[in-house]
Amino acid sequence: MPSTRDVNHSDYASQIVSALPQGVLLTTKAGEKVNCMTIAWGTLGTNWGRPVFVSYVRTSRFTARMLEQNPEFTINVPLCDDFDKRILGICGRNHGNEVDKVALAGLDLVDSRLVSVPGVAQLPLTLECKVIYQQLEDPSLYPADIAERYYPQDVASTECGSNRDPHYMVYGQIVNAYVIEG
Ligand SMILES: Cc1cc2nc3c(=O)[nH]c(=O)nc-3n(C[C@H](O)[C@H](O)[C@H](O)COP(=O)(O)O)c2cc1C
Repeated sequence: MPSTRDVNHSDYASQIVSALPQGVLLTTKAGEKVNCMTIAWGTLGTNWGRPVFVSYVRTSRFTARMLEQNPEFTINVPLCDDFDKRILGICGRNHGNEVDKVALAGLDLVDSRLVSVPGVAQLPLTLECKVIYQQLEDPSLYPADIAERYYPQDVASTECGSNRDPHYMVYGQIVNAYVIEG
């Protein structure tokens, strides 16, 4: 049975920032449904005097629907390279409204302390986040090269990678952080 140890998220800032480009997990929960989505874009910092993790979630993701129902999420970060990388592929190429990604990827969920959303034991560093602000990006303000590369208007919203839809900037206040052990 895994246990958790509370930590100061700032002590893990470099691991969080270094892991992001390869992928970390953003988990949501609504009712009994738990859904994990791989993310590679995120910002760790401070806003309104609070520690925040900002996630960038395309409007078409099932995760966006989950956040409408329960504005909390967890971020799970690997602390070593020795974890099953297939997890990131499964959670990054399937839609949670079509499949149970937790079962498909064999994820071990652990209760969080201050949010209703669990952490994922396979990527043991967990940030517990409560959404304090959310804003839809304005596509008219994207630089032309970014619009062309990341928002191709001929790609359907259902595409798991880049598609025509803009992102929500989802500001999560980090209310606790813990490492899953054992
Ligand atoms: C490495 C990787 C990084 C990704 N990063 C993001 C991201 O930062 N934001 C986003 O909206 N989608 C991102 N995606 C795509 C989502 O993970 C993918 O569309 C997923 O199927 C969405 O799941 P959902 O529909 O259950 O929410 C990424 C996918 C991969 C493989």
